[in-house]
Amino acid sequence: MLEWGSILIENAKIMDKLTITQPDDWHLHVRTGKILNTVIAHTARQFGRAIIMPNLKPPVVTVEQALSYRQEILDALPTGSNFQPLMTLYLTGNTSVEEIKKVADSEFVHGFKLYPAGATTNSDAGVANIEAAYPLLAAMEKYRVPLLIHGEVTDAEHDIFDREKIFVDSQLSQITQQFPELRVVLEHVTTQDAVQFVESASSNVAATITPQHLLFNRNAMLVGGIKPHFYCLPILKREQHRQALVTAATSGNPKFFLGTDSAPHLTHLKENSCGCAGCYSAHAAVELYAQAFEQANALDKLEGFASFHGADFYGLPRNSATVTLQKQPWQVPASYGEADLSITPLLAGEQLQWQLI
Ligand code: DOR
Ligand code: ZN
Repeated sequence: MLEWGSILIENAKIMDKLTITQPDDWHLHVRTGKILNTVIAHTARQFGRAIIMPNLKPPVVTVEQALSYRQEILDALPTGSNFQPLMTLYLTGNTSVEEIKKVADSEFVHGFKLYPAGATTNSDAGVANIEAAYPLLAAMEKYRVPLLIHGEVTDAEHDIFDREKIFVDSQLSQITQQFPELRVVLEHVTTQDAVQFVESASSNVAATITPQHLLFNRNAMLVGGIKPHFYCLPILKREQHRQALVTAATSGNPKFFLGTDSAPHLTHLKENSCGCAGCYSAHAAVELYAQAFEQANALDKLEGFASFHGADFYGLPRNSATVTLQKQPWQVPASYGEADLSITPLLAGEQLQWQLI
């Protein structure tokens, strides 16, 4: 279902209203406690479901823990919300084949997240040696449990801007060769190299793309001063890569789908001499994607990317509700949450063109 309204301005037809099937967010951090309470309504306002990342402290490593985290999220939802959190477990060196079987049998847990140890926020418990985890990947392949990958190498000698490409070349290509039936989501792709890899891989390999990587290159973070609210991992890349991501997202290729990687951190922990990685984008996720798709003249491709491809890949039904976006500029607030718990959103204080109504 795709509908749009239009107005005629100087003989050019400009789309000003767009109704699409309700989207899902296939990569989301909501944390726990007060931060969860501050952010969850933003996601529930737009999305039917979201894949919830397990990188809490301590990480979510068992189905039992995921179920209690799921309940905490449900309890934090605004009254009447139908939002469904889709849980994941954090893959560690201690994950058992037994736990993988439990995930395969669970209605509520949808995959394992592989963080190379040290790659990003709360990844210390991640996998230090991926080859040592191959027996676990074999079990996931056998039981058809998706593996969600943070695709960056962590060795100190590699330049931070090359970490994704090196991971794809040295690790991911091995994984997909060894386990051709394993369902893999390469999360938050940021480079032309990752896009090309996913395009040429089998239909078992897909990728999510964030709004910040579609809208910005590394200049947004580094020109005119260091802008910590654009700092996330994988880090923003050069323009050539942003363009490759936009082409992939707007291509209609079902291997690419929406995953915000919205990652709330308290403002003072980002505006810090050692600031945390993560952009908070849940406040305006669909609006940000609409802006990126409009800039590429591809609003007609937004519904597939946002509402169909991810559900199809995970073998879940597409949502039946719809959401409507209207061209109606609005200003993003400077922050969300109480003073000592302030979270600065992506594009704080700036105008966005689209608004969910
Ligand atoms: O920028 C990021 N922030 N990248 C990640 O992979 C993790 C996330 C977080 O949890 O803050
Ligand atoms: Zn993430």
